[in-house]
Amino acid sequence: MAIICRLSSTVCLFLFLSAEFLSLSLGDVGNAAHYDPPYIPTACYGSDVSQFPTSNMFGAAGERAWDNGASCGRQYLVRCISAALPTTCFPDKSIQIRIVDRALTSVSRPSVPGTTIVLSIAAFSAIANLSASSVNIEFQQ
Ligand SMILES: *[C@@H]1O[C@H](CO)[C@@H](O)[C@H](O)[C@H]1NC(C)=O
Repeated sequence: MAIICRLSSTVCLFLFLSAEFLSLSLGDVGNAAHYDPPYIPTACYGSDVSQFPTSNMFGAAGERAWDNGASCGRQYLVRCISAALPTTCFPDKSIQIRIVDRALTSVSRPSVPGTTIVLSIAAFSAIANLSASSVNIEFQQ
């Protein structure tokens, strides 16, 4: 890149911005399970269910995403990228979810322990077939 930058500062700026854009748009890769009601946001909001988005698009943070509680209220764009059964992911479906609880201590237990994010039934079934207990996801804040 240094050589190109010496030739033309315009090209240099373009390459820099492209790299920046790519790193922002790719997001992180992890996996997601789902959990059933009752949804009680114990770790983030106690029993105050007014924090749930009316869309019911929410989830509980796995330990990797929990961030010592700082993840409460964070919004993520989530998309299903692969699963054990190839037809599980709904192509080109992304959802925006809000973190309302910690998966490790959620009242309702995840379909699979130890995933990055545990999604509400509404959220999971918007991006993948609910008959799968977990899927691989791409997510970004
Ligand atoms: C979900 O998967 C089940 C079992 O593999 C299948 O019978 C069902 O048709 C699928 N539903 C959708 C919406 O793809």
